[in-house]
Amino acid sequence: MKVGLKTQILPVDEAALAAAARMLAEGGLVAFPTETVYGLGADATNPAAIARLYQAKGRPAFNPLIAHVYDLEAGLRIGRFDAPALALAEAFWPGPLTLVLPKPGDCAVADLATAGLDTVAIRVPAHKVARQILRAFGGPVVAPSANLSGHVSPTTAAHVQSDLEGLIDLIIEGGPVEVGVESTIVGCFEEAMLLRPGGVPRDEIERVLGYKLKQPALDADHDTSQPLAPGMLASHYAPRSRVRLRAETVEAGEALLAFGPKMPPGSDGAAAVMNLSARGDLTEAAANLFGYLRALDAKAARAIAVMPIPQEGLGEAINDRLRRAAMGRE
Ligand code: TXA
Ligand code: MG
Repeated sequence: MKVGLKTQILPVDEAALAAAARMLAEGGLVAFPTETVYGLGADATNPAAIARLYQAKGRPAFNPLIAHVYDLEAGLRIGRFDAPALALAEAFWPGPLTLVLPKPGDCAVADLATAGLDTVAIRVPAHKVARQILRAFGGPVVAPSANLSGHVSPTTAAHVQSDLEGLIDLIIEGGPVEVGVESTIVGCFEEAMLLRPGGVPRDEIERVLGYKLKQPALDADHDTSQPLAPGMLASHYAPRSRVRLRAETVEAGEALLAFGPKMPPGSDGAAAVMNLSARGDLTEAAANLFGYLRALDAKAARAIAVMPIPQEGLGEAINDRLRRAAMGRE
């Protein structure tokens, strides 16, 4: 139900950025674009604001949040960086990489935001609007994707509005995002470990580390009591429609999420067709993924048939999100 708050929607300009920083300081909830997906920001040091954020999203409180900061220097104040963590921060920040680090005793990020874990997730986003808001606000901002819990992540301000209007204070409208899948999450413990594939491909991270990323235990995301990256619960990205992966043909009544220049048999009779990238480009496909899933979901087709996507570069993150979308309603 869309009740309660009057949600302001402002296009980006000086006044809008100042309003965003002021509302954050007052404990408000502000949605803004990052290069990966739109985020829903709250003051990371304000437990009341964070409680409101969990409530607005309908998000289980055991699912911790990423603290967004303006630069590495600000990151150093809230997390304990070892040498590999520093190397990764220097190579990829600002950008779509989140580091999970030991949380120092005097960390300003509220325990509610880290769900009581002794680690903290930190990211320095690259999007100009996100950076301007972080600089104006001057402290860490927790920002999950700005969707209702369980929905597909928002890549436009309109997606945010359709999920959260009436539940949050402000939406900063900054156009469609560039990357389209969430940040890669790397846990920097004894050895760096891939907690979530995302906007920085695995091989680029491994090149900087000089070794292969460790893989968390396969069943980590089914253990809801103490998951490794708890937001990786299977149902996290579920559309309402059934999602059928690695489709080689389109069946009657299905919508098609295509990839590449060659359409599969049956596509002429599809309820709807959207092509993630007709030229088979994985970067373009990532940017289109969540928007196209939302659009096909709205067709209420029998199912969404998804063509195979190569498991290389950004394909790993795309396939991860698609797998979760397919599992969500089973
Ligand atoms: O690209 C992104 O990362 C976007 C934009 C808005 O920055 N944010 C995002 O946040 O995807 P969210 O809340 O939708 O996903 C955060 C993920 C969750 O899977 C959560 O469990 C994990 O990060 N996470 C946060 N803190 C963690 C921690 N201390 N240890 C392990 N996983 C953590
Ligand atoms: Mg999310």
